[in-house]
Amino acid sequence: SYEYSDFNNVEFDSYMIPTNEISIDGFRLLDVDNRIVLPMNSQIRILVTAADVIHSWTIPALGVKVDGTPGRLNQTNFFINRPGLFYGQCSEICGANHSFMPIVIESVPVNYFIKWISNNVNSSLDDWK
Ligand code: CUA
Repeated sequence: SYEYSDFNNVEFDSYMIPTNEISIDGFRLLDVDNRIVLPMNSQIRILVTAADVIHSWTIPALGVKVDGTPGRLNQTNFFINRPGLFYGQCSEICGANHSFMPIVIESVPVNYFIKWISNNVNSSLDDWK
């Protein structure tokens, strides 16, 4: 689950697309229904926690790995200098569904991000679709 607390708390869940629903050009076990859209060429700070057990929010191409721990708020930061898709997976053995919690960041130009976040403010993602 993601919240954009600097942008009126736009929030949504991001789930893996099941193998039987993935498109022919999709990445099995890696693609998600709702990507994290972030602006490129911007310093990004993220706060990470967990609701159940310890997970690890990991995007290898960004050099980011931060534990999500119940009762704790961890933070890290990164800077994406190009547009594109950045894939990651939970990397702390966290339970039966550990293999099925991928992460996808869609890095976009800042003006596109502003448009995206504006369309999502004050509306749930279901309304937006
Ligand atoms: Cu969550 Cu492994």
